[in-house]
Amino acid sequence: MGQPAPGGGVASDGAAAAPAVAAPRRPVEPTLQWREGVPWSARFDDRYFSSDAGLDETCHVFLHGNRLPERFAALRAGDVFRVGETGFGTGLNFLGCRRLFERCAPAGARLVFRSVEAWPLAPQELRAALALWLTLQQAAGELLGRWPPAPGQAIDFGAVRLELDLADVADALPTWPEAQIDAWFLDGFAPAKNPQMWSDAVLAQVARASRPGATVATYTSAGHVRRGLQAVGFTMRRVPGHGRKREMLTGERAPGSLGGKPRLTRGG
Ligand SMILES: C[S@@+](CC[C@H](N)C(=O)[O-])C[C@H]1O[C@@H](n2cnc3c(N)ncnc32)[C@H](O)[C@@H]1O
Repeated sequence: MGQPAPGGGVASDGAAAAPAVAAPRRPVEPTLQWREGVPWSARFDDRYFSSDAGLDETCHVFLHGNRLPERFAALRAGDVFRVGETGFGTGLNFLGCRRLFERCAPAGARLVFRSVEAWPLAPQELRAALALWLTLQQAAGELLGRWPPAPGQAIDFGAVRLELDLADVADALPTWPEAQIDAWFLDGFAPAKNPQMWSDAVLAQVARASRPGATVATYTSAGHVRRGLQAVGFTMRRVPGHGRKREMLTGERAPGSLGGKPRLTRGG
């Protein structure tokens, strides 16, 4: 069942702790169900990931949609690459991203994966959801061993750091530092079922927290999401989606938009 989501930002990488964020506004109740073999949210009447093969979808939509294989491979020792995610859910995207980073990035580079989740799964729910992915079992076990994270506490897995804001996205994103995120995973249930996760205010925060040149990827091809991201400075493209989804969206924030540092943090 769902747990109360303690409010709290996370200590950011080597910097001052992010300001605490308020606890979610909505009541917390058990919602995780299973349909067609995948976790399903009764609250949002939607699946956590595709029944077509969630891990393949993660790779296609979020990892390749953000060109992470080549970007991770191009890192140098001392670089810190930052991913931002809306909707941590089962942690599948995190685990897939960690695996890719560990395979592609050079020694001495680091990944900071920051995500937000208003309704963290209970340990037994997370264990059941992650049991689907045989190739991720070791990393899933490590995540489960540290779950749920204490409010404000980052979790380190070697060169990969997880920072999880257990709060509503509308409260959490404004606390993120400006112009730090290199790549975004927008994964907050279907926009028609969860419009709060795709509001203009949330997209504006995504832009504010993005480095110039940051990329964004999402499984949805909804026109208002595309236009909303364009309005805050991303150049958007429709590209082939995964499985039964004909199209999805990728985008890039124009270098030079709204200030911020144009390159990766070195030695951060
Ligand atoms: C599609 S699932 C994310 C799947 C996830 N990325 C994974 O790898 O399993 C969407 C997630 O967004 C969370 N969520 C929905 N609305 C939210 C909000 N307003 N603030 C924070 N989290 C929210 C849900 O609880 C759910 O866990």
